[in-house]
Amino acid sequence: MTTSPTIFRTVDDLRVTLAGWRHDGLRIALVPTMGALHEGHLDLVRAARQHADRVVVSVFVNPTQFGPKEDFGSYPRTEASDVEKLATLGVEAVFAPSAAEMYPEGYATTISMTGPALGLETDFRPHFFAGVATVVGKLLIAVMPDVAVFGEKDYQQLMVVRRLVRDLRLPTEILGLATVREKDGLALSSRNAYLSAEERRLATTIARVMGEAADAIRAGGAVEPALETGRAALAAAGFRVDYLVLRNAETLAELTDPASEPRRMLAAAWLGKTRLIDNIAV
Ligand code: PAF
Repeated sequence: MTTSPTIFRTVDDLRVTLAGWRHDGLRIALVPTMGALHEGHLDLVRAARQHADRVVVSVFVNPTQFGPKEDFGSYPRTEASDVEKLATLGVEAVFAPSAAEMYPEGYATTISMTGPALGLETDFRPHFFAGVATVVGKLLIAVMPDVAVFGEKDYQQLMVVRRLVRDLRLPTEILGLATVREKDGLALSSRNAYLSAEERRLATTIARVMGEAADAIRAGGAVEPALETGRAALAAAGFRVDYLVLRNAETLAELTDPASEPRRMLAAAWLGKTRLIDNIAV
């Protein structure tokens, strides 16, 4: 038998329940999402379950992380089926606030970050990390979980969240989970639903090209030519490439000594109207 999670719309209501759990000495996990849940999200929830006695999943399509020309309006909103999926995993609480609850009338507080938030996504979506840092900060402060779980799929976001938690000395452990992929290598994303059948077939190119560039670099090949070959292969397959780069896996800074630093390859590219991002360890 599955029990439906309790749905909370306000921070005050959620806090009453959280206080009771804390009083009982229970560990609390938070999985922040924008809904449209897929197997990748469910993996985060299963991990949360292993690290806590009570799991809270937030479902909030955060307006401040979308630019004026982005897909805020069309972003899939599937609350009823999301809640059904979470019920099968035994999630106790869903926090699904309104925009007015998260951003009260006249709100004047934004978290702005440098460090790992500079470059990459910020070069193409300048508003993005202020929106993410602000909403994640608000969610962490509202829930004060023992642990919060994020996917490595949004690798720069994960680094930004780790930095945020360190900088604000929030008492939450951040768990990063490996990207869940389709059988053909495409990283799961709610935005994959935008792809036409032909685009879906081509979308797998991004993981393949990154794998080939990573293999060439691991085999001792020069970094920039391997990346340039990858960019050309993506363009030939019909992608418009925002970036395909190799960075320091911890700071996301440009590599000064590629042979000795931890390395992460990160990519963002458009296929038609859909922007795909991916990353792998190298
Ligand atoms: O990764 C996401 O789904 C969102 O950026 C997050 C972390 C839930 C903040 O809105």
